[in-house]
Amino acid sequence: MNPKLINLFDYESLAKQRLSQMVLDYYASGAWDEVTLLDNRRAFERYKLCPRMLVDVSQQNLSTTILGQQLDIPILIAPMAFQCLADAEGELATARSAAALGAGMVISTMSTKSLEEVAAVKNENFHHLWFQLYIHRDRSLTRALVQRAEAAGFNALCLTVDVPVLGCRERDRQNQFTLPSGLELANLSGRKIPETVGESGVFAYVAQQFDPGLTWKDIDWLRSQTNLPLVVKGILRADDAVRAVEHGVQAVIVSNHGGRQLDGAIATIDALSDVVAAIGDRVDVLVDSGFRRGTDVLKALALGAKAILIGRPVLWGLSVAGETGVRHVLEILRDELGIAMALSGCRTIQEIDVSLIKKV
Ligand code: FNR
Ligand code: LAC
Repeated sequence: MNPKLINLFDYESLAKQRLSQMVLDYYASGAWDEVTLLDNRRAFERYKLCPRMLVDVSQQNLSTTILGQQLDIPILIAPMAFQCLADAEGELATARSAAALGAGMVISTMSTKSLEEVAAVKNENFHHLWFQLYIHRDRSLTRALVQRAEAAGFNALCLTVDVPVLGCRERDRQNQFTLPSGLELANLSGRKIPETVGESGVFAYVAQQFDPGLTWKDIDWLRSQTNLPLVVKGILRADDAVRAVEHGVQAVIVSNHGGRQLDGAIATIDALSDVVAAIGDRVDVLVDSGFRRGTDVLKALALGAKAILIGRPVLWGLSVAGETGVRHVLEILRDELGIAMALSGCRTIQEIDVSLIKKV
């Protein structure tokens, strides 16, 4: 591995040199003025760590339990569309890296390798391969996706609720983003990302295909379709989190979609505490958007998250060195977390508590 690749930002810089402008813009963009994209990073700086000294940290264990099943490190790979734009093996490379590190992975409805191909990567220690669902207007298609995920052995269904319409990523619009020939929506045979004049193809696809009329009733519908644990992704308010629990979900992911949906939405580290206070004693709370350092992970765990999901840095790792690159990205984040925990007097994930953090 290139010895100059020390942190996740190094991967980002190198990936930016390698990807085409259209792909880079799709991966990196936030919505409108990218205020939330930036704030997801900046907000971490407002939280200060209060480390505990003189604790024997010669032995460490980073494992935790999510949905009642072990996870070796408190990190999952966030669902991200179109990973074959970064590497020919795409989602398969990502899944192999997650399996190697004992991390979790959530595969997108909009993946460029099919959910069955990705599930084949699973080994007996891989308890957290989740399928991310976008509910389409066509409910029979949606039901079929749920049944396929169950049959393929996925461990949970992750319903993303922050995309009634796609956020406006203006660079994608300028580029008229579409999938190059040779790549396909591998779970959605027959459906295509359109080529649309003056518009992002993904924006057009979502407008045509996703159901903007979703409500809490649809959570009940989905609950009735499957026995898999149900995770809701994209919650930013305590009252929505409470409602999600009332409708039978087993975990909530506090997310603003990496700043790609509603620009101006609250940074997730700022939204986390209220959600944890409202439901943290009943279900697992996870969080994503802007996690780049081990200290970011430590801060979220201190505020009560059970695990975090990492998005774009995985795509940067994939672009730079495929499966090896993703594995290295995960190793870097894991090792940084281990060091940050040692420096804070924490031997285990369970020892990380709210006394370690102060907002200034
Ligand atoms: C995403 N995200 C996403 N989320 C989802 O539920 N389904 C999806 O298909 C996608 N697709 C997608 C593509 C790309 C290129 C990106 C960058 C993101 C959102 C993703 O799961 C996650 O919420 C954010 O990426 C987390 O923020 P960071 O870590 O990228 O800052
Ligand atoms: C995105 C969608 C596909 O963020 O979730 O691009």
